[in-house]
Amino acid sequence: MNLKADLTLRELADTAGLPIGVAVNVDRLSKDAEYGNVIAKHFNMCVAENQFKPAAIWKGEDKYDFVLADYLASFARQHGMLLRGHTLLWHESVPAWLRDGGYSSESVASMLREYIHCVVGRYRGQMVQWDVVNEAISDEPGNHLRDTFWLKMLGPNYLHKVFEWAHEADPEVSLYYNDYEAEAGPKSDAVYNLVSELLRSGVPIHGVGMQCHFENGWRLNQETVDNVSRIEALGLQWQATETDVRMWLDGQPATTEQLANQALAYGDLTNLCLSHPGCAGLLFWGVSDAHSWIPGFRKGWGAPLPLDEAYRPKPAYSAVSQSLLSRVIAA
Ligand code: XIL
Repeated sequence: MNLKADLTLRELADTAGLPIGVAVNVDRLSKDAEYGNVIAKHFNMCVAENQFKPAAIWKGEDKYDFVLADYLASFARQHGMLLRGHTLLWHESVPAWLRDGGYSSESVASMLREYIHCVVGRYRGQMVQWDVVNEAISDEPGNHLRDTFWLKMLGPNYLHKVFEWAHEADPEVSLYYNDYEAEAGPKSDAVYNLVSELLRSGVPIHGVGMQCHFENGWRLNQETVDNVSRIEALGLQWQATETDVRMWLDGQPATTEQLANQALAYGDLTNLCLSHPGCAGLLFWGVSDAHSWIPGFRKGWGAPLPLDEAYRPKPAYSAVSQSLLSRVIAA
């Protein structure tokens, strides 16, 4: 095989057959040509960081705003990229007019069914996966369903309903349950139990999204390998949906050692994806360190992505490339 010395992640991902994706700020994409060029150069899959969430689209009863969502869908088509949807239901993205509108449970259920049919139907044929429900499991001991607007309004079987509604609207798209700390530990057991129960009840679910928001120092361990294997044994796909590896900076630039550790984490995760046939993709939560949500949400932490603030590849980028390259050469 003839390989160029400086293949991009996208070129390697295409050859290795592992989708590599990125979360896009669609508002920025519509205004910043360089940002768009970087996305199309390095990645073959994209997801909107915020613009497919209900609070962004669902503006009122029968009032939907698809301007930015459509913009990303058309960008993905234009650049031959896969499109993934995030997310139909999330307790952090309940439109205020709906939450505070005094609606009955019956009207909320019927409006939500309509919403899901409309949104999923609109991207039918292009969308490859939808996160149907995001973060429905609580962090409390026992990890029961989180106490949310949706649980209150729709009852304990609400996941059954929303997955079915999404499936009605697009029988081809892969439907995911997505959560944080779903990689290992108590939350991963709760996710496993939840998706097993959904499958036993005949609910159309096809995958588990593991957000993979890691702290620097994270390394692949046996528990994580066992967890993805048991998800695959259920016949489900899984995916690293929101990967970032945050570093403790406290206002200082990252050290060489921190960057090297971060590269180990990214390399491990890529190897995990490549060694498991059920892995449907590896996505990063932001294009570069300049666009990450981390500094805004976790004070003192930052620089969690493979491209630095000036879009220069970091050691983490090389680690992902190296892992993909090994796969390509071995094939
Ligand atoms: C975050 C976005 O990155 C922020 O811009 C927004 O203000 C809040 O949401 N888990 C998820 C994502 O599933 O939707 C979140 O995205 C990050 C945590």
